[in-house]
Amino acid sequence: MKVLVIGSGGREHAIVDALAKSSKVSKIYCAPGNAGIGLQAENVPIKDTDVEALLKFALDNGVDLTVVGPEAALAAGIVDSFRAAGLKIFGHSSSATRIESSKEFAKELMQKYGIPTAGYRSFDDFDAAVSYVSSRPYPAVIKYDGLAAGKGVVIAKNHDEAVAALSDMLLDESFGKGRVVVEDYLEGPEFSFLCFVEGDKVYPMPLSQDHKRAFDGDKGPNTGGMGAYTGLPFISEEDREFAYREIMCKAAAAMQKEGCPLSGVLYGGLMKTADGIKVIEFNARFGDPETEVVLPLLESDISDIFMAVAEGRPVPEIHWKDALTLGVVMASKGYPGKYEKGCPIEGLDGVDAKVYHMGTAFRDGRLVTSGGRVLMLVAEGKDLNVARKKVYGEIEKVACDNLFYRKDIAHCALDD
Ligand code: AMP
Ligand code: GLY
Repeated sequence: MKVLVIGSGGREHAIVDALAKSSKVSKIYCAPGNAGIGLQAENVPIKDTDVEALLKFALDNGVDLTVVGPEAALAAGIVDSFRAAGLKIFGHSSSATRIESSKEFAKELMQKYGIPTAGYRSFDDFDAAVSYVSSRPYPAVIKYDGLAAGKGVVIAKNHDEAVAALSDMLLDESFGKGRVVVEDYLEGPEFSFLCFVEGDKVYPMPLSQDHKRAFDGDKGPNTGGMGAYTGLPFISEEDREFAYREIMCKAAAAMQKEGCPLSGVLYGGLMKTADGIKVIEFNARFGDPETEVVLPLLESDISDIFMAVAEGRPVPEIHWKDALTLGVVMASKGYPGKYEKGCPIEGLDGVDAKVYHMGTAFRDGRLVTSGGRVLMLVAEGKDLNVARKKVYGEIEKVACDNLFYRKDIAHCALDD
């Protein structure tokens, strides 16, 4: 089987790495890929949202299955175009991707089908939004209603911050013309629940937690994610069962009823509040960096899962390793603000852990940094202490002057 993976980050590297283990997969392409992916797959220099060029490539090269990483490609309608051309593809239609790409669509769906989430109102008028926010307690949660590359959420602590955020989104249209959703503020630990979904059939993956802030102690600006781990001590089996039945399965059934069935990964960004588990957001794709800690635990052949979902068939039983994983992201100094690119990276050959490339390139035969998040090292262990010791031992071997990383990944799950 020839497989094409769309995307260029650590998530796609983890998907390529999982596919590379399959005896059924004879060739892996990745568009556009990165330096590390290029060691396990053939990189194809086509942008992830250039649907027409990707379709032509898949047809010309006899690709049997395409797997989509990023939401932008899904929202651009890659799945609809590939299916119309008779090709098999793992990912949601653009209409099903609205569960991520439109906050208002997701909120209405949850309200209609009784899926627990924060109360909200949605606005396109600045004055009406300000008047609503002013009548409510702070902090207020203000979200741009569309894809904003993770930057469209503001937690406003007071009136001035709320007005500034609403003005930015509705008057200055910083993310483009659109609406905003104003939500009640929730508190509690957050976690990620990724499931393979085909119609109303939902196949859970191990739970994981991302660390979104740049610095130790969950301080500093929000990033795409600085590390992740599996094995969450604050989520009981009962909590997991509740999240599976009352959130993930209900959402899949709701999407089917609404005429836009899911056919890929549904990612629940969930929070355990004093009032039960609630949805913060849904994503229509694998999470990054969650995928890098979840997929190494998969024992089953991932191509069987992707193919079953792409063909609309039930997925065969999925087996997971009885182990835990912990992964640490190495990012360019300055990230998520301005940072340099092109800094040489050495020492990866001696690293005894999974090394997923997030933003790397080859320049004159040397491996160099080419993004904000650059590498992710993932170690496995019978418990998180073992995995942590290993990953932080191995990370020292990576030599690059321009990288930093958090020293406290999984701190919420470890005693010291
Ligand atoms: P989102 O893009 O919707 O996941 O929001 C980004 C981050 O903002 C989340 O991971 C939460 O940490 C925070 N957040 C979003 N919605 C809420 C909420 N209703 N209450 C508290 N924090 C929130
Ligand atoms: N880890 C956050 C995300 O993938 O959206």
